[in-house]
Amino acid sequence: MAGFPELRLRRLRRTGALRNMFRETRVDVKDLIYPLFVVEGSNLKQEVASMPGVFRYSPDLLPGEVEEIAGLGIPAVLLFGIPEHKDEVGSGAYDPEGVVQQAIRTIKSTVAELVVLTDVCLCEYTDHGHCGVITGGYVDNDRTLELLAQTAVSHAGAGADMVCPSDMMDGRVGAIREALDKDGFQHIPILSYAAKYASAFYGPFREAADSVPQFGDRRSYQMDPPNWREALREVEQDIAEGADIVMVKPALAYLDVVQRVRQAVSCPIAAYNVSGEYAMVKAAAQQGWIDEREIVTEILTAIKRAGADLIVTYHAKGAASWL
Ligand code: PBG
Repeated sequence: MAGFPELRLRRLRRTGALRNMFRETRVDVKDLIYPLFVVEGSNLKQEVASMPGVFRYSPDLLPGEVEEIAGLGIPAVLLFGIPEHKDEVGSGAYDPEGVVQQAIRTIKSTVAELVVLTDVCLCEYTDHGHCGVITGGYVDNDRTLELLAQTAVSHAGAGADMVCPSDMMDGRVGAIREALDKDGFQHIPILSYAAKYASAFYGPFREAADSVPQFGDRRSYQMDPPNWREALREVEQDIAEGADIVMVKPALAYLDVVQRVRQAVSCPIAAYNVSGEYAMVKAAAQQGWIDEREIVTEILTAIKRAGADLIVTYHAKGAASWL
């Protein structure tokens, strides 16, 4: 076996052309999914204070935005809705005329080939801000399932290409699959937020989506950050219930989980580079403390190297022009 000095690993790193030849991981714009916040109303374009460069758009202003996204080569968007009215049971989530349903129709009639994914959850639509309905102060798993299924069917009915449950109720993938199939949407895939942790990295999102829980927190349904074996159980369960793609969220502090899921399953894996991860990069870049372009490229490459096929990221528009 050769060792130093015959063996020199630096030989394959000597020039840019050589490094390019031996690069093991490449991120392509086709791997990226761009999250879009849609706010009910008209003529609204509001920047999210803690997420510079990220805006909430009313449905009427979406055409220009989605044309730009598609023009950059980004293949897909993930929609989040911010309704005008919230109530105890999150009616806005499954209203056929709801803000996301309007947005789907607008996007599909503007750029038909842009893949439209929708976040399926109640938290932006409930007045208490939890991801399900409340019975006796506790998020009621089984009563929530029916409403999530109704939400997914209404998104599919409006023209969504894929639905993405992010609520972390037990049994929701099965409930959604059954409801979609019953209504003639057998062809619509489910991307489940399978291993979703109760994370402080969602802070800026909750400002963007106006979904801060009004009491308690989400720890009775989202996963406990120290656990990885439990992530595999969540993933296995969701696949057994019919998930076509599984997601790990957040991404960066959970790359070990992405890697373990990659080793455990053969279906496609997505990772969500969440709002807090984006905000930290943006804040440091604005201070001139880091090189945003280099950092973002390194981050997205690391998420792919860990095993993700797809990356949901607020950096997608910037990255599309750098990659
Ligand atoms: C809705 C949902 C959240 C995110 C995606 N879907 C917030 C939460 O669970 O509190 C977070 C996304 C991000 O931080 O970028 N349940």
